[in-house]
Amino acid sequence: METVEKIIGSHLYMIDEIDSTNKELLENVQKYEHGSLLCAKKQNAGRGRYKREWKSQEGGLYFSYILKDQQSITNIYPMVLLTALAVVRSISFCSIKGIAIKWPNDIYVNHRKLCGILAESVSMGNKSHVVVGVGLNVNNHVANLEDLRHPAVSLKECSGATVDVFQVLEYIIEELNSLYFLFKQERFSELLPELNRYLYSKDSQIEIQTPSGKKTIIPLAFTNDAKLHCLESGKEIDLFMGEF
Ligand code: BTN
Repeated sequence: METVEKIIGSHLYMIDEIDSTNKELLENVQKYEHGSLLCAKKQNAGRGRYKREWKSQEGGLYFSYILKDQQSITNIYPMVLLTALAVVRSISFCSIKGIAIKWPNDIYVNHRKLCGILAESVSMGNKSHVVVGVGLNVNNHVANLEDLRHPAVSLKECSGATVDVFQVLEYIIEELNSLYFLFKQERFSELLPELNRYLYSKDSQIEIQTPSGKKTIIPLAFTNDAKLHCLESGKEIDLFMGEF
């Protein structure tokens, strides 16, 4: 049997309120050990992708972990995708139907957003320190998060009962470490069948946001190098997470 060393969350910091857990780790890299995980009960300046705000009221789960001294953020992209898988696995006890991972790394339940993930990095010399932040709607009210682009949903709404936020965090940390262990052993491809079972809008057309505007694609599969294989205007292409 393989022993999984606990790296992510080996140092666990819990805080009541902060501006953004991603920002805190990125701006104070020296203070935090490799694998440190910082969780806040609420954030008052939570960050989303494309410089959007991530509203973070009490009742949700907001945390970030840091992987220090990486060659580049690109090397960590498979782990960013595996972070989505860790969340999906960890909430299986809620028996949610219609759960899916939407490119590049959001989790949806029947077209409503349950979780967002934001990977950012800071370079120091020839090394990069990578921070992966997760915002999961657990018991927080989501009606005020809804907009036409991203209607939201919470675990409480999906399961019909209040969910223990810190229990969910514990499950996620355990899954993150098992998946990180495989990632470090270059065994990402073993996880592709599971990831592909959760691929959002597989084989059907969707519109996605990219830095250069909206694209209409048909997602086909996640690839060995953590790209999204898809069809765009009838042509097969691979989308790279760095483009998002
Ligand atoms: C997105 O879908 O746009 C990504 C949202 C990521 C939100 C999380 S909450 C914890 C961490 N701290 C932040 O400021 N953002 C991430």
